[in-house]
Amino acid sequence: MTQMIPAPLFGVIERLQGDLPWGSLLDAGTGMKSALWAGGLRTERWTAVTADPGHLAETRAGLREPLRPQDRLVAGNWTDPALLAGEVHDTVLAEYLLGAVEGFSPYFQERLFARLRPLVGRRLYVVGLDPYVSGSAEGEAGRLVQAIGRFRDGCALLAGETPYREFPAEWALERLEQAGMRILFAQRFPNHYTMEWVEMQLATSQALMERIADRGLARALSAQAGKLRRKASAMIGRLGCLAYGADYVVAAEPG
Ligand SMILES: C[S@@+](CC[C@H](N)C(=O)[O-])C[C@H]1O[C@@H](n2cnc3c(N)ncnc32)[C@H](O)[C@@H]1O
Repeated sequence: MTQMIPAPLFGVIERLQGDLPWGSLLDAGTGMKSALWAGGLRTERWTAVTADPGHLAETRAGLREPLRPQDRLVAGNWTDPALLAGEVHDTVLAEYLLGAVEGFSPYFQERLFARLRPLVGRRLYVVGLDPYVSGSAEGEAGRLVQAIGRFRDGCALLAGETPYREFPAEWALERLEQAGMRILFAQRFPNHYTMEWVEMQLATSQALMERIADRGLARALSAQAGKLRRKASAMIGRLGCLAYGADYVVAAEPG
């Protein structure tokens, strides 16, 4: 259920940061992409948190450089008041953390930014994805992106997993302000989904199908995945990509 961050969004954050030093950086919802990015910045120290110990091991194994003595990869859940209690980090990154909270601490989204707020010394960057699985999608590309998202999430539910739940940028802005953050920047970046994205969603769905006890249902879902792949391949061949929905970047500072 990984969302592919368009690499330019890290560039947006770098431009927003400008000449400000990164200082002590906290990656509040880490993974391979943000860890590789953060690990390459000139930080004084770098702390990366994940709620998933398996994800932690994968992230550690994928690092290009060994961790410096002052850097940490931490397994912990933001619902735990003791996690990084009393720490302050100059820069905090919440990259696709909000959508993932549903899988690790459902119903906590409302309190996420208030929980992170005391940890933010200077800047908080939030990267999120506008919801595209619920509601009604417009246009053929939109309907297909939604169908693929619904298919992936349906497989997750049938496999006994909780799919991610995304929140719109406006929801995030309201909660940030309620948490005492001042918004410095907020912008949407339209998504252009390629076949690589489609294949990633279908590979995730396939892995989930393996865990569905009803094998007849799993076979029917696998056939449906093939139909979605063919439809996406034809549409991307015709349109170049599936242009639909948006990611967003928000920069905020303690108010
Ligand atoms: C979609 S991944 C983030 C993507 C990541 N930045 C990357 O580069 O791939 C979401 C991350 O947030 C973490 N996460 C979700 N809910 C959490 C919670 N309640 N406490 C701590 N970490 C959480 C997950 O464990 C995971 O590491």
